[in-house]
Amino acid sequence: MDDLKVFSGNAHPALARGIAEYLGIPLGEAEVFEFSNENIFVRILENVRQRDVFVIQPICPPVSKNLMELFIMLDALKRASAGRITAVTPYYGYGRTDKKDQPRVPITARLVADLITTAGANRLLTVDLHAAQIQGFFNIPVDELTALYLLSHYFGEKALDDLVVVATDIGISKRARDLAARLNAPLAIIEKRRLGNISETETLNVIGDVAGRHALTVDDEIDTGGSLVGAVSALLEQGAIEVYACCTHPVFSGSAVQGIASSPVKEVVVADTIPVPDHKRNEKITILPVAPLLGEAIHRIHTGLSVGALFE
Ligand code: R5P
Repeated sequence: MDDLKVFSGNAHPALARGIAEYLGIPLGEAEVFEFSNENIFVRILENVRQRDVFVIQPICPPVSKNLMELFIMLDALKRASAGRITAVTPYYGYGRTDKKDQPRVPITARLVADLITTAGANRLLTVDLHAAQIQGFFNIPVDELTALYLLSHYFGEKALDDLVVVATDIGISKRARDLAARLNAPLAIIEKRRLGNISETETLNVIGDVAGRHALTVDDEIDTGGSLVGAVSALLEQGAIEVYACCTHPVFSGSAVQGIASSPVKEVVVADTIPVPDHKRNEKITILPVAPLLGEAIHRIHTGLSVGALFE
């Protein structure tokens, strides 16, 4: 495999620039824009024949547009004879639609996997999928990184006394247990129920002892913020001294940020797998950069080094 090339769609150019900077290479030149009829057009402006190409594009809002840009960039690179193409989706949108748990519903996470592969990807690089089993929706190699170490390092430095790590639902409890182990803290779990197919959630129970402790909630993403706000109230009601929160993906849809601002949560720490515009930032939100993690993984994939060793 010849030279390494990194291209970016319009979803998160700042992250792509950070990755290119980590790798010490310029970002690949491409035009990616929409005509007045909303058709997206892509032109790769440099030779990619036989190159090892990475396309950085989280599947974040505007989701449909970012997905189409990704498919069209992959297609353009495939037709330009790139040697190997890796789709880098730091946030895998549609990951929550990963099973047929009601009659006549789609498995959109699988559909997206098929479309990414058909468009031309030979590999996928991603961060903290909603469920690790989504890896199996792909018949191409998938490297799933985690931001957990970044988050645990941040809270390790804070050295909060009497810490308890809290999984905001049963689905995240295994990852929460790993975080708890890294922080030498016990684990509690919130029993949460989603009401219908809309975003509303109901916090049912806190399982575990949180009274008199600093609580740190963990989730894969904060979308509307409903799960987080419910968890914070439940933990304070159960006697937690203060509640901190962390997650990998700051989707921050609807009034999530206002919800965080008005909730008693002390701090919310997220990774920048998704861009967080200025109007979605406030003094309670801390954003940690994932470009070095993704840059190192790309370096390892390109040179044939172990990616797993990054987490050992
Ligand atoms: C759901 O199962 C996920 O792990 C998150 O808990 C969920 O996406 C958070 O959504 P929201 O912020 O809308 O409550």
